[in-house]
Amino acid sequence: MKPVTLEEGWTPLVRSRRLSEELGLPKLFIKNEGQNPTGSFKDRGMTVSVTRAVQSGAKVLICASTGNTSASLAAYAARAGVKAAVVVPSGKVAAGKLSQAVAYGANILRTDGNFDRALNLTIEIVSELPSLYLMNSVNPYRIEGQKTVAFEIYQQLGFVCPDYVVLPVGNAGNISAVWKGFKELKEWGMMSRLPVLVGVQASGASPIVDAYERGSQEISPVDEPKTVASAIRIGNPVSWRKAANALRESNGVALAVSDEEIIQAREDLASDEGIFVEPASATPIAALRRLGGKVERGSTVVCIATGHGLKDQDSVHWNAEESPVIGDKSSLKSELGRLSIN
Ligand SMILES: Cc1ncc(COP(=O)(O)O)c(C=O)c1O
Repeated sequence: MKPVTLEEGWTPLVRSRRLSEELGLPKLFIKNEGQNPTGSFKDRGMTVSVTRAVQSGAKVLICASTGNTSASLAAYAARAGVKAAVVVPSGKVAAGKLSQAVAYGANILRTDGNFDRALNLTIEIVSELPSLYLMNSVNPYRIEGQKTVAFEIYQQLGFVCPDYVVLPVGNAGNISAVWKGFKELKEWGMMSRLPVLVGVQASGASPIVDAYERGSQEISPVDEPKTVASAIRIGNPVSWRKAANALRESNGVALAVSDEEIIQAREDLASDEGIFVEPASATPIAALRRLGGKVERGSTVVCIATGHGLKDQDSVHWNAEESPVIGDKSSLKSELGRLSIN
């Protein structure tokens, strides 16, 4: 069977021009996963998992989602000609992501409460209704696809292992996938070492970071996770054990950043580098600011920008009243004069 694909992957690895100076990291790179077909890294996993599901005869694919998984599943199900049902926490998904799922023709099912509840309900119903095929990141084929980001980073750096890979952590599927990818490269003899992973959560939704800081082997779920970064607003990450393993094995660091730091990092990535990301995807830059000089200057650091900024425009603050209204050419000229344009 031919893969169900939208030509995902091969996203740009962009070298930082300005944040690198501020952070004292001349070899800082942004892996811009927002350039995937539906605007997030989820597409890497969805091509594999939807192909596998269709191959095994599945007709209805289902997931719970904070937004991006629903957009991605909806697109790949449309491509494959099968039905998609997406279970989303009502009022908690960014409008851009929901409109993608609607446009691609998914059945949208809203639940009360948060993502964790939506996922629990979805997993329960899948165990009762065998015609449903679960597409969340507990589906191992998702991880197989998502790990390819590690292969690309290695190749784009010129077949070199980065020193640090910094990425947001929600349900913890992606950090597990990234780690699996790098470990396989080492097992295959292509690299002699492994990167240090830096897993970043939002401070209102940071059960993995909390456990890491306590030195605990278990997480304490956060009942009401809160953060502007809706993609990682998750209190009980289903793959937390895999994340904890990845962090331990990589000698990694887990840290939480505040909403203010996230919004600032998002603004700076856009206005300093020309890369517009959704809030969750700015957490790595906020984390590097927190880490300050702890990351050695000569290190090759890759931040994974997981999702596109257009998906979540509500968190961009723009006051229309502050922008001048142009009446005629002379007022346009005088406004431009303020910018020293002749
Ligand atoms: C943009 C974005 N970044 C990060 C994540 C976190 O990925 P994971 O849930 O696999 O940890 C998600 C998950 O929805 C996401 O949509």
